[in-house]
Amino acid sequence: MSKSRFRAIEGTRDYFGKDGERFDKAVVFAGELFVRYGYDRIRTPVFETTELFARSIGAATDIVEKEMYTFTPGSDTITLRPEGTAGVVRGYLQHNMDKRGDLAKFWYEGPMFRRERPQKGRQRQFHQVGAEAIGSSDPLLDAELVTMGLRYYECLGLRKARLRVNSIGCLRPECRPLYRQLLRDAIRPNLDKHCKSCQARFDRNVLRIIDCKNPECRKLSAGLPKSHDNLCPECAAHFEAVKEGLMALGGGFALDHTLVRGLDYYTKTVFEYTHEALGAQNAIGGGGRYDGLAEELGGPAIPGIGFALGVERILIAMEAENGCSCSYPLQVYGVALGESAHRAMSGMIARFRAAGLSADMDYGRRSFKSQLRSANRRQAMVCVILGEDELSRGEIVVKDMSEGGGQKTVSIFDCLDEVKAALP
Ligand code: HAM
Repeated sequence: MSKSRFRAIEGTRDYFGKDGERFDKAVVFAGELFVRYGYDRIRTPVFETTELFARSIGAATDIVEKEMYTFTPGSDTITLRPEGTAGVVRGYLQHNMDKRGDLAKFWYEGPMFRRERPQKGRQRQFHQVGAEAIGSSDPLLDAELVTMGLRYYECLGLRKARLRVNSIGCLRPECRPLYRQLLRDAIRPNLDKHCKSCQARFDRNVLRIIDCKNPECRKLSAGLPKSHDNLCPECAAHFEAVKEGLMALGGGFALDHTLVRGLDYYTKTVFEYTHEALGAQNAIGGGGRYDGLAEELGGPAIPGIGFALGVERILIAMEAENGCSCSYPLQVYGVALGESAHRAMSGMIARFRAAGLSADMDYGRRSFKSQLRSANRRQAMVCVILGEDELSRGEIVVKDMSEGGGQKTVSIFDCLDEVKAALP
């Protein structure tokens, strides 16, 4: 058999079968949970002006420097969104939501695009579910949002999701700028022992040196000053209140001074969720406060906080923790033999579906054995079996597919009730 030469582009993939079901569950559960915390759905465009991302994420970040898919159709310069926060804050300002005076809470899901080197848990088109709360600097909001992420993983049956938090302070001269200086002074004597990318980051983005994964750099960074020990009084008080809030809401966390995040818009609280099933790319989600972002985009000084959770990484964690348990099983599978039985079965399947059951049948006109094999593969709970003989007598066989389940021949008119009775 000849094979098509067309393949999904490296770093992109198709979702179907178990992964398709897990994907749907990840999105549906996010919507159900986040709405209970007061988040409304927002859909923003998949592409925006390149400048929006450069300004928000930061010109000296890996994302903006090397990972964006940017196009120049005509005289525009547009970029496929590498993340969702910039678009949400742009939308918030564009629609004058700041004038309403109350907190705006949005959740979203959809594809994001980064030209990274593909590997396990790292794709070029990946998907996020995210939440953004714009309009409050209350540390209790940080605690609420961060624990909402933990609750979400719990809902998906993930018991091994872990939370790391840190504070990277604010832009006041006595806060992060001073800490940066302290860090540079501490790193400078050993800079030549650090890896090439750390050396390149020394002037442009010195905080990223602390989260370098190179083992040599890690050893060198062990004794460096910690951001959460060098905060201005306001950021220090905010961080204390966030930690207290987390403890009160049952959000178990580890304090991690190496957590600095890869996007420039963060201020104060930053956090990441990790899962052991992921290996090197173990962050299943992350976020933080971005109190300067609205202003950076030309709006008023409005604080905000949010997170984004990587769906692909969640799928890997789900597979590791709960195998297939999240699949939606098929309730009824129709097996028909003969042309008239096949047509009658198509009508019955329509009736099952109209009654709210998940039902399907074989459209290949295959043998009885092959159809039963399909029913097993689809994990059907009940099979209804119709041959030409049964049809002529107005009867049908209802077979319970669970282990040790029996079967009985019933009138076609009673079939729906019999199927319902046989379902768990
Ligand atoms: P981020 O840490 O860049 O943050 O991405 C969030 C999550 O998206 C990561 O923890 C990871 O699970 C997933 N992710 C990122 N890149 C990839 C990739 N190439 N392949 C697969 N999954 C990936 C943000 O995007 C911020 N917008 C989060 C945020 C929202 N901060 C405030 N509000």
